[in-house]
Amino acid sequence: MRLGTAPDPASLDPIERASRDELRALQLERLQRTLRHAYDNVPAYRRKFDEHGVHPADCKDLGDLAKFPFTTKQDLREGYPFGMFAVPRERVARIHASSGTTGQPTVVGYTKADLDVWAGVMARSIRASGGRPGDVVHVAYGYGLFTGGLGAHYGAERLGCTVVPVSGGMTPRQVRLIEDFRPRVIMVTPSYMLALLDEFERQGLDPRASSPRIGIFGAEPWTEEMRAEIEERFDLDAVDIYGLSEVMGPGVANECVESKDGLHVWEDHFYPETVDPFTGEPAEAGELVFTSLTKEAMPIVRYRTRDLTRLLPGTARPAFRRMEKVTGRTDDMIILRGVNVFPTQIEEVVLRVPGLSPHFQVHLTRPGRLDVMTVRVEARPGFQGRGQAAEAVRRAVKDTVGVHVEVEVVDPETLERSVGKLKRVIDKRDT
Ligand code: DLL
Repeated sequence: MRLGTAPDPASLDPIERASRDELRALQLERLQRTLRHAYDNVPAYRRKFDEHGVHPADCKDLGDLAKFPFTTKQDLREGYPFGMFAVPRERVARIHASSGTTGQPTVVGYTKADLDVWAGVMARSIRASGGRPGDVVHVAYGYGLFTGGLGAHYGAERLGCTVVPVSGGMTPRQVRLIEDFRPRVIMVTPSYMLALLDEFERQGLDPRASSPRIGIFGAEPWTEEMRAEIEERFDLDAVDIYGLSEVMGPGVANECVESKDGLHVWEDHFYPETVDPFTGEPAEAGELVFTSLTKEAMPIVRYRTRDLTRLLPGTARPAFRRMEKVTGRTDDMIILRGVNVFPTQIEEVVLRVPGLSPHFQVHLTRPGRLDVMTVRVEARPGFQGRGQAAEAVRRAVKDTVGVHVEVEVVDPETLERSVGKLKRVIDKRDT
């Protein structure tokens, strides 16, 4: 794996150089303040804490957080639109919202101070990725209610970069702008980066000769195999960025380009835990749970993200714990004849088979009584050995995941491309 150059230590935020003890002391003070703020100003939190028999004063050390109740997406939906705000609406400087594909959208709000913190952690994330003041940054995350575009935008500005706010879509124009403005940094979903790759080739341009040397990819799960593919085809360092609207947006955690060994969680603002997704008990690996430590407009206490990962000690930023690359969401998990399958596991397999492209979809059907999973994957242009490649995928999925899947190798450029977040799984079982 290629590794990049660490930033000059003098350019880091002072807290990035703090000790673990210093960080923990800051976290406790901020946690106590957050719990009090939520209890005093958000009726839903007060009710839940009371029902649970806990009071903010019960938090004497960081371990006491586990006594407090979880917050779920359902809680946020019930508060729609502004019920979770802890400040008068007039103090809310910006609103974002989730797309609401699975029901009521969830609304989040930010005070000016929150926006300032967000720009700060995003600037820190871009710097950790290898971005520097003065870089041209091409932002192809969507602008709007989605947090990706504006989050990246203000972070890049804060770092002192030249921002190109392209947003998603109009792929040929994206390539044109990359050719003309020569950004050193590109921020986009990994799946849309693949669509850009196709477009470079369609226009007869060599992607490796293009300007980006740093790619900051997130908003959806992606694997080490995908990192290798993108790094090789574009000749750049591909770095993972994580975040979610309910907690802030992008910039909750980010990889360091010099280690690329998981994402350092910016724990001075976001306190992570992992719990067993079924029992809610603390677990070494499991569902990620976040508590905000500095948010004013919408403090969040023990939010169940549904993202699955593991927490590890810090490396490049020793005080900050890391999270492993997210395997998937609890709600993306496919249970196929009793076996749990994540699309990332299929991605790992597909990208190891020569002749197959990273473009694939997982189709679920129920022709009889049993569920059938079909992996539909595009061949790379000019590739002939489709039957053998399909067999290789079938065998590798059986060996590594333990389930039988059907595999169809299809022509290049026949599967739908994503503009923002990719939809990998097409579930036709209920129709
Ligand atoms: O996707 C924020 C974001 C924008 C992150 C741009 C990174 C870059 P939401 O739309 O609220 O916010 O979706 C959050 O996306 O709970 C994860 O399931 C998934 N996700 C985000 N980043 C990653 C990542 C933004 N690096 C949801 N790896 C989260 C895997 C990710 N999944």
